[in-house]
Amino acid sequence: MSIAALPLDEVESMISSVRIDGQKEYGETVFPYIYACDAKLPGVDAVVPWVDKHRERLLEQAAAHGAILFRGFPLASVEAYDTFISALELPNFPYEKSLSNAVRINATERVFSANEAPSEVDIFFHHEMAQTPLYPRWIMFYCSQPAVKGGASPLCRSDILYEMLKEKCPQFIADCERKGLQYTNVMPGLDDAASGIGRSWQSTLGVNTREAAEARLRELNYSWEWLDDDCLKAVTPALPAVMEVSAGRKTFFNQLIAAFSGWKDSRNDPAEAVRHGDGSALDVESVQQSIQLAEEIAFDCEWQTGDAVIVDNTVAMHARRPFEGTRKVFASLASMQGQSFEVS
Ligand SMILES: [Fe+2]
Repeated sequence: MSIAALPLDEVESMISSVRIDGQKEYGETVFPYIYACDAKLPGVDAVVPWVDKHRERLLEQAAAHGAILFRGFPLASVEAYDTFISALELPNFPYEKSLSNAVRINATERVFSANEAPSEVDIFFHHEMAQTPLYPRWIMFYCSQPAVKGGASPLCRSDILYEMLKEKCPQFIADCERKGLQYTNVMPGLDDAASGIGRSWQSTLGVNTREAAEARLRELNYSWEWLDDDCLKAVTPALPAVMEVSAGRKTFFNQLIAAFSGWKDSRNDPAEAVRHGDGSALDVESVQQSIQLAEEIAFDCEWQTGDAVIVDNTVAMHARRPFEGTRKVFASLASMQGQSFEVS
């Protein structure tokens, strides 16, 4: 049978929602939601009509549950994955437009390597680009080759974390909501792929000169300082630490854990990386509590070849475990949003 002739109802019958070990359950939701394709479909073109038909429902499910894992789908290459996610018809958020501090390499226009940081580096929990005024609503991943050992992508429901923190560290959460957060990052003059936060200031800001960098920083309301070796220290304006994603549903939407635990390289000291929006220091015990709780409720996405994941970046955080061997995980961002902090 040719690919085009495969009827949609036949494709529907091959795809079902499944449960796996370690999956989390929160009220009416599971985390992540999982679709498995249990028969071998001939190629990605066979599944595109299915995505087309269910587009809205898939995005609603990703938002309600926090993430969807697609397992066993016919995603044999980065190009096939690109076709699959393109069928969601979400506006692409290209890496070069982002203020992300990770070094990445584009594979297709929408798909790039998840982070070029060395395998032994832990990437801690974060909401993608929550430390900048521009962030993507959706972050999508694809694995074409799992690591020999390790390399899972832990995911964490940030609304659950918020509720736990509100109960265990009410003062800290109140401070986070009232003051927001501000991030300090020292960017190198040239990309440093040995660091998880090694993107150069030229690439991060999309400029070639110091004058243009300053103009861009001014526009973004950052403050800055030029350091030795052409390094640029940038401090963000106060940004929100908590987001109300829907009525009564709040998430711990920030980069606090990653900045506090992981913004460490030859230029950056994690102790200086994050403060409250008014410049005051964070309560270290509460930060440690956040790190521990996020870890306790994490779902480790243990990659299988061909897996794809769509994460609602406003609802769930992601991270990366260290690994051994070659690991090929790609990411794609969609639907750029803006954020700013209003003092209440
Ligand atoms: Fe990330």
